[in-house]
Amino acid sequence: MSSFCRAASPHAYQYLVALRVRPSMTAAVTASTSASDKEASADKTAARGLKGIIAADTKICDVDGDLGKLIYRGYNIHDLAKNSSFEETAYLLFKGELPSSSELAEFNKVLVHHREIEPPVLAFLKTLPKTTPPMTALRSAVSMSGVYDPIAEDDSPEANFEKSIRLTAEMTTIVAAIQRIQAGLEPIAPRQDLSHAANFMYMLNDKVPSKDAEKAMDLILILHAEHALNASTFAARVIAATLSDIYSAVTGAIGALKGPLHGGANTEVLKTLIEVGDVKNVVPWVEAVRAKKGKFMGFGHAVYKVEDPRAIHLKDLSRRLGLETGDTKLYDISIAMEQAVISSIHKNCNVDFYSASLQHYMGIPGDMFTCVFAASRIVGWCAHILEQLSDNKIIRPSSNYIGPAERPYLAVDKR
Ligand SMILES: CC(C)(COP(=O)(O)OP(=O)(O)OC[C@H]1O[C@@H](n2cnc3c(N)ncnc32)[C@H](O)[C@@H]1OP(=O)(O)O)[C@@H](O)C(=O)NCCC(=O)NCCS
Repeated sequence: MSSFCRAASPHAYQYLVALRVRPSMTAAVTASTSASDKEASADKTAARGLKGIIAADTKICDVDGDLGKLIYRGYNIHDLAKNSSFEETAYLLFKGELPSSSELAEFNKVLVHHREIEPPVLAFLKTLPKTTPPMTALRSAVSMSGVYDPIAEDDSPEANFEKSIRLTAEMTTIVAAIQRIQAGLEPIAPRQDLSHAANFMYMLNDKVPSKDAEKAMDLILILHAEHALNASTFAARVIAATLSDIYSAVTGAIGALKGPLHGGANTEVLKTLIEVGDVKNVVPWVEAVRAKKGKFMGFGHAVYKVEDPRAIHLKDLSRRLGLETGDTKLYDISIAMEQAVISSIHKNCNVDFYSASLQHYMGIPGDMFTCVFAASRIVGWCAHILEQLSDNKIIRPSSNYIGPAERPYLAVDKR
């Protein structure tokens, strides 16, 4: 078993220099505000939530909300879910093409090398109050990790690519350490001989997972890896575009993902399923939420108008794992809730809905769900940061001033 301490690896850096980011994978990014400041102010309305505004060109991901299609670098998510692995998908998102077997082996070697985290980061996690929200712990640990990265401030494409792989690798180690420390357990050091998904589960549970459990985690990691200009990815691009460092951009993205309107929804879904408690309570519960004009967590989407293609896989996996564990209660409540919410507000469930019961069946505590999401989405964040930096333009939209007209300043005794 390896230790947590990172060994210096000149090999890893050389490999990345040799790979270099190909210009073909690094799309030109336009701050697509084709309207000038003048035109925007003449228009006198802000697009609420920037809905419908195209803020970047990207070659990484296409989300077709009308057709329910999700494409990573030209590949349909259903094909990747069926045939790919997290490692291969990560390579695809970073590099723009599926790897050959030797490219994948080399990439994997670097990913495995970076699994260990710095001892001060681990020591820091142990000092946190047990009540610290896991996403807060993750945000702080990732930020701190940058302090110990000797190339943190090197902004060359090669260094940023290496940091992307390092962040992808160490995110799972940090997340697993957070879970175990909060449960009063000793963190488990990563192993070199397991796949990314299997090693993650091993560090969470101190047990090598079954092939089915490994595949389930692998699928969760593939499905959550990328989703175009969602709030956290946009946050990452905005920070990267100031030419700040990659750790700052990822730290900001984690903060954005934490919110219950974004990645935090999966944790809220589990709370809801437990609160509802039984299939027979679903319809009255939905009616009560509707009467209060409340939000149904895990439903609705800023882009998808039809079924979220990721939810199809997560639903199926949740059903299978529920049957395997011999306890389908949360899955059954989820099915009843999906039907009741669709009839009530005509919104489909999103990626977070079935991910809640699924992760529960995998033995992951509810308050860790968003961290698992982050351990996957790190790939999308970094791919977008690399793309942004390949043709950078600071992202600085305009605002429409609706405050008071210019007025005279009154001295304090005259107010
Ligand atoms: C994801 C979400 C933020 C998208 O918001 P949006 O882009 O404004 O989506 P829409 O334009 O379809 O929403 C229009 C209205 O439909 C209603 N609506 C949308 N989703 C709803 C939900 N889950 N429950 C109840 N009403 C909902 C609301 O009235 C909303 O208006 P509001 O945002 O002013 O309250 C929203 O659907 C939501 O809050 N969902 C719950 C949280 C969640 O699951 N987040 C994870 C997303 S992957």
